[in-house]
Amino acid sequence: MKTPSHILTTERLILRNWIDTDTSAFIAMNKDYEVMKFFPKTLTDSETLELLERIKLHFEKNSFGLFAVESKSTKQFIGFTGFSIPTFNAFFTPCVEIGWRYKKEVWGQGFATEAALACLRYGFETLGFDKIVSFTSSVNKKSEDVMKRIGMKFKANFEHPKIETTNILCKHILYEIHSTVK
Ligand SMILES: CC(C)(COP(=O)(O)OP(=O)(O)OC[C@H]1O[C@@H](n2cnc3c(N)ncnc32)[C@H](O)[C@@H]1OP(=O)(O)O)[C@@H](O)C(=O)NCCC(=O)NCCS
Repeated sequence: MKTPSHILTTERLILRNWIDTDTSAFIAMNKDYEVMKFFPKTLTDSETLELLERIKLHFEKNSFGLFAVESKSTKQFIGFTGFSIPTFNAFFTPCVEIGWRYKKEVWGQGFATEAALACLRYGFETLGFDKIVSFTSSVNKKSEDVMKRIGMKFKANFEHPKIETTNILCKHILYEIHSTVK
């Protein structure tokens, strides 16, 4: 992987490209049942490595993506926040999505909100997005709370086309925020 670039900094965080030392922490995070509670399953080592490859390709193709997030104080990888282009079709696609996932140990300190606010600013002011969406399963209140805290507004309920309708995780909520950059 490349030397870190695409760096954004906040009071407590560095948002950067992924580096090799993130991999083991990312593998462990994706194996944690609590972190992955609102996804269909936890990820095996090889599934996390495939996901990392897709993240890297997304950066190469679109020049934006999901940033690795590092704590300034511990210098450790703590999760990710950033942008992706959903690969399924829905009434709101094509679009740019903001998403996040953090190690359980760092929840409850406002890191996801802090990183997402920096990303929104970057998305609107530097990348020139007109609109950014976010979605999650309707039972994922912590993620919905991040959406609310960063000023996104509820737009609609929808059924995720890649999840079985019998699965409780199929029911999703869609939030959005528009650029105010002139
Ligand atoms: C979704 C997720 C990122 C939310 O994490 P979080 O720690 O609750 O969110 P934040 O980092 O914004 O922290 C907010 C919490 O910290 C508290 N907090 C403390 N200091 C704070 C600060 N300086 N600023 C904001 N909030 C602060 C808030 O009061 C809030 O606490 P509460 O949950 O008791 O209300 C996390 O639960 C996660 O990674 N889940 C697994 C992955 C996932 O589901 N991703 C979304 C799928 S689409």
